[in-house]
Amino acid sequence: MVTMALMKKPLLAAVLGQQQKRPPVWIMRQAGRYLPEYRELRKRAGSFLDLCYNPKLAAEVSLQPLKRFDLDGAILFSDILVVPDALGQKVDFIQGDGPVLNPLDTGSISALCSDNILTHLEPVFETIERIKAELEAEKTLIGFCGSPWTVATYMIGGRGSPDQAKARLFALEKPAAFESLINILIEASIKYLIAQIKAGADVVQLFESWALNLDEKCFQSYVIGPNTKIIEGVRSEIPDAAIIGFPRGAAGMLKNYAEATGVNMLGVDYSTPVSFVDSVLPVGLGVQGNLDPLRLVIGGQQMTERIEEIIRGFSGRPHIFNLGHGIVPQTPVSHVADMVAAVKEG
Ligand code: CP3
Repeated sequence: MVTMALMKKPLLAAVLGQQQKRPPVWIMRQAGRYLPEYRELRKRAGSFLDLCYNPKLAAEVSLQPLKRFDLDGAILFSDILVVPDALGQKVDFIQGDGPVLNPLDTGSISALCSDNILTHLEPVFETIERIKAELEAEKTLIGFCGSPWTVATYMIGGRGSPDQAKARLFALEKPAAFESLINILIEASIKYLIAQIKAGADVVQLFESWALNLDEKCFQSYVIGPNTKIIEGVRSEIPDAAIIGFPRGAAGMLKNYAEATGVNMLGVDYSTPVSFVDSVLPVGLGVQGNLDPLRLVIGGQQMTERIEEIIRGFSGRPHIFNLGHGIVPQTPVSHVADMVAAVKEG
């Protein structure tokens, strides 16, 4: 079965370690606000969470970028913060301000409950089934969740922040309470990813978007430990699960993350030099990345020259071309088409 899938789906094949002639390509946050058809649909969908839990519309949004561009994969339209929502923490998305949550304290951590999360997240699995039913056989369906540390920064801080100071202080001041939160998130993430794969996701990505700003001890405890446990937990039920880890800002800890967690492929942010990545990672381990999203905003030669440098730099190992973080809303749609063409045609 794996061999059949490998022949058909270049992106999945690359995740599983098979180098492709030209790298397959998808774009982090490809289903979203830079697309006029997304903004249009968003207006009639109600709140952002209503959209995440509406399988018909969420599937439509997931497929929107593939109608325009020759991408090799679709990513499930949802958000990393549906997990806190499913655990019973109130989550709001404020237009122009991002997510806002009631910050957790020691008491409210012990009130979180992961027993019924799969029932709450049922619409997400239906979304996956709907996307899968429409997706061409050559395209890979990517599911995801936020990694525990990243999700916890929002649950403790109540919103995004440049340095995650609230969560970092909480973890140092109240290690027992913080560890119980991380453990709840590990357990929830394992169940959630297994259910996504069973519903039809070919690959899952762990978004550790706030892996930066941690010292090596906290990185070990809150990033490497939990990501490793999630991967072990998923593989205990689905041994050949294809998993991409994206520890944004891991920098000097990238090698430790790659070796300890057992990811099939490593997502690399744009500030990490290509030659550094290539020299520290185990031979044959695949990488995904890592164009600066602002080069996609600018387009032209500033973009195409860098695309070729990245492809050349990673030519010795399996590579999926992607941005080094999510696409930004002001990105011109025509530049996305140019980027995909440059990756595919060289
Ligand atoms: O990648 C995709 O296209 C699939 C959908 C997806 C969304 N969020 C939709 C979304 C994915 C994979 C995410 C992941 C996510 N969400 C991350 C990790 C990736 C990263 O970029 O670092 C994080 C940290 C979040 C939390 C979150 N959700 C924030 C901080 C915000 C507001 C700012 C922003 O980045 O847009 C959101 C809202 C959100 N999630 C939007 C979309 C399309 C915009 C909301 C809207 O349409 O009104």
